[in-house]
Amino acid sequence: MQTQNNLLWVEKYRPKKIDAVTGNDEAKALFIEWLKNKRHNKKAVLLYGPPGVGKTALVLAASRELGFSVIEMNASDTRSEKAINAVAKPATSYKALDNFTENAQTNGNVLFLDEVDGIAGNEDRGGVSAILKIIEDSLVPVIMAANDPDIEKLRPLKKECLLIRFQQVRIPLIIALLQKICLLEHVTAEFEALERIAQNSKGDVRSAINDLQSLGEENHHLSLQDTMMLTSRNKDTSLDETLRRYFSAQSIAETSAMLAFSNIDYDDFLLSVSDNLPKRYPDLTELAKAYNYVSKADLFRGRIGTENWHLLKYFYNDLAHASAVNPQSYKSFTFVTPPIRIITLFWTKGKRTMLDAICGKIGAQCHVSHKTAKHDFVPYIRAMLQKKPKSPLVSWFKFTPEEVDFLIKMGRY
Ligand SMILES: Nc1ncnc2c1ncn2[C@@H]1O[C@H](COP(=O)(O)OP(=O)(O)OP(=O)(O)O)[C@@H](O)[C@H]1O
Ligand SMILES: [Mg+2]
Repeated sequence: MQTQNNLLWVEKYRPKKIDAVTGNDEAKALFIEWLKNKRHNKKAVLLYGPPGVGKTALVLAASRELGFSVIEMNASDTRSEKAINAVAKPATSYKALDNFTENAQTNGNVLFLDEVDGIAGNEDRGGVSAILKIIEDSLVPVIMAANDPDIEKLRPLKKECLLIRFQQVRIPLIIALLQKICLLEHVTAEFEALERIAQNSKGDVRSAINDLQSLGEENHHLSLQDTMMLTSRNKDTSLDETLRRYFSAQSIAETSAMLAFSNIDYDDFLLSVSDNLPKRYPDLTELAKAYNYVSKADLFRGRIGTENWHLLKYFYNDLAHASAVNPQSYKSFTFVTPPIRIITLFWTKGKRTMLDAICGKIGAQCHVSHKTAKHDFVPYIRAMLQKKPKSPLVSWFKFTPEEVDFLIKMGRY
């Protein structure tokens, strides 16, 4: 079981009260008003906006504060009509379930379908129409949340909902929240350091808190200097945006141009494209075609190395082909990101430097890129060393005792 100490701070400081959800005052007021007012003319509400701004947090805190029991469904894993009906039907059929809940103060249920843009994804099996039916029949308020409300499939849903838009949380509010957390975690931080974390988050409170934790857990005094490694966050944001634009592109020319003007890391991008293609192309023939282009792009990437930059246009061109195998079939979906990238965000600079040194040694011995060393070799070597810390691998790679220790203990990898 997790102790308070190793909890993620985003969980530990998840707002328990409406007041603790910072920013988006208008959206908040509108939602509370809707939830309180039993005579509202729309039975369902859709909270939408960018990630990490408090949509889910508000729904949970407000329902709790106003005495509702939340029947929650995360749409990502329940896309079919059958699954939705199994949970939602009973929950919406009784106005109050006082007799069945422990909370005698309850105002009844609310049904909360989080991430409905997930429901409407590629694998939609009647999910949207099932929700529509639930809304129509429901005796209890139906709350939904999504990042992207504009996807085609959600259109019929939007008509039935009160739409409430969330925006990025303003920087000064994020700074204030980070200051509070610092106080509770006994971290002293320079104002400029928190300002930088907040700015870097681009209004995403979740990522700001995550960054604060990654830096603050090890440095109990946080200076501006300590935040310098945070550029990776920007890189990640641009990777996500580039992926979104990449997968939704309507033509090869459009994608080629977009890639040529972006400043993403080619290797990260290639890896992420490969990881996400199966979500983009559920049709296997299309998927095979797309992978074919990606493997050609990969070949060019290898030849580009560090000097043959003139080959970059071929790399882009092949990638662009992979994105445009069937533009009509595009539906918004949530990206899979290589776990290593997500996890490294929680790492401090010291740990990254150590991992970089290790990958350098692996690269030198095995003649592989840094990336390959990190993704393919490190997990394997780590498993070997965990079994046998004095393995001959240690001297072969010339690992220092600290590096061996690091590899063995890197539990979060
Ligand atoms: N406005 C906020 N005020 C306080 N904490 C917040 C706020 N927004 C996010 N957080 C913190 O970030 C975590 C994640 O927020 P939340 O799950 O509400 O984001 P979301 O808007 O639902 O994002 P997504 O679109 O990715 O589902 C919360 O547990 C909380 O710790
Ligand atoms: Mg959410």
